[in-house]
Amino acid sequence: MTVLFADLSGFTELTGQLEPEDVRSLVDSFLVIAREAIEGWGGRVDQFLGDGVLAVFGDPLAREDDAERALRAAVDIRSSTHSLRPFGASRDGAQTAHFGLATGMAVTADARNPVGVTAPMGPVVNLAARLQSLAGADEILVCPTTALLVRRVATLASLGERTMKGIEQPVDVSRLVGLRRSDSIGPSLSVLAGRGSELATLSNAVESLVGDGRGSSVTVVAEAGAGKSRLFHEVRLSCTSGRGADVSWHEGRGRSTATATAYAPIVEIIESMAGIEEGHDAHELRSRLVRLVTGLDLEGDDVIGTLNRLFAVEDATEASRDREGYQARLVHAVAALLTAASGRGPTVVCVQDLHWVDPSTLALLRAVVPSLREHILFLFNSRPTDATTVGEDHVAMLLRDLDLESIRALVESRLGGRADVDLIRLVAERSGGNPFFAEEVT
Ligand SMILES: Nc1ncnc2c1ncn2[C@@H]1O[C@H](COP(=O)(O)OP(=O)(O)OP(=O)(O)O)[C@@H](O)[C@H]1O
Ligand SMILES: [Mg+2]
Repeated sequence: MTVLFADLSGFTELTGQLEPEDVRSLVDSFLVIAREAIEGWGGRVDQFLGDGVLAVFGDPLAREDDAERALRAAVDIRSSTHSLRPFGASRDGAQTAHFGLATGMAVTADARNPVGVTAPMGPVVNLAARLQSLAGADEILVCPTTALLVRRVATLASLGERTMKGIEQPVDVSRLVGLRRSDSIGPSLSVLAGRGSELATLSNAVESLVGDGRGSSVTVVAEAGAGKSRLFHEVRLSCTSGRGADVSWHEGRGRSTATATAYAPIVEIIESMAGIEEGHDAHELRSRLVRLVTGLDLEGDDVIGTLNRLFAVEDATEASRDREGYQARLVHAVAALLTAASGRGPTVVCVQDLHWVDPSTLALLRAVVPSLREHILFLFNSRPTDATTVGEDHVAMLLRDLDLESIRALVESRLGGRADVDLIRLVAERSGGNPFFAEEVT
């Protein structure tokens, strides 16, 4: 599990300056904020401790992204805490909090125990608490295991090794610098092993797109870690950024944490088309959307109002229009944008992790993809549990387990040298031919 400690900064000092009622009310507001964020990200508040909270992610049910959820909860608590004002305090500046996160094994009591708290026990709890006390105002500190698990989504700065009370070895502590758009693939890759025929099929699809402007749709279905994203990553490398044909690649993805957020992948695709980045304000958003629409000669088409609404920067006229009509207008707007874009040059639209995509997005894709796949290459992927498709594909692709030769290539690339055949067998057996597990086991 990942354990999160969150604590108000400057609390002792505050208690000296404020009336007890005001302190109480500040702490209450903080705890409400914390609980909302923690539960919103699927965690559980285990205990309130004075001006702080102990939360766990991954108990009773562990998820693959518990560490990321805990980190996002901390980030949300941090920003909401800024809006708290210590009542009557002369201190200027916003209220801050500080955070410690650690991931590891712990033993929890059965939820039916007489005390009513599960009180996780294990070194991981102490570690999270120590990290939290080490953290300065607004700082989120994480242990090495948490750091490893969030590396795809977070930028971290190492603070070096620190010695902490009750922990034998010095701990390599990292501070959160910022969250990134989750990258589809990790930063350090093993050499691509196997998948020659799958890559050839996708390269052919790209060639038809570039050569004759013929699109198609491909859905890759395979278990977690089988290499769906890696395959798309390789295709993208081969056809964008100066390497080979210059294809416009627009991508969105379903997220385990956002299955209920309507149209999130569509927003990402349009952001990519319009060059919208994190941190752009409403003004910048509007002007980029306008530039996209005029650039594609779609001014006449009612598209801009609909897009503004999608990005929540709509004017009063659009805001007052009906909800049902909005869905139809969005289908029309997205179809018009993609059609116009594909007229300008070869276009790939990629939606990853369909199993997590929200129902509104699926409905939209099902409405627009069939007519657009004449001219656009659509790449989808999904896990087999709840495998979702957008409709009949030109190609449905399953990824098989890697064979022994491919496992060898992967293991040797990870180790940076030749590996013993027994070791390769062991990795093949333990991983069942799944590249993600093979990497981890290696
Ligand atoms: N053929 C391969 N050769 C070498 N490494 C691979 C291969 N396929 C996948 N990997 C590596 O295995 C890890 C998992 O792959 P990837 O993220 O593509 O899986 P996925 O099928 O997209 O899983 P998920 O369902 O969780 O999104 C990555 O680090 C990736 O680089
Ligand atoms: Mg993936």
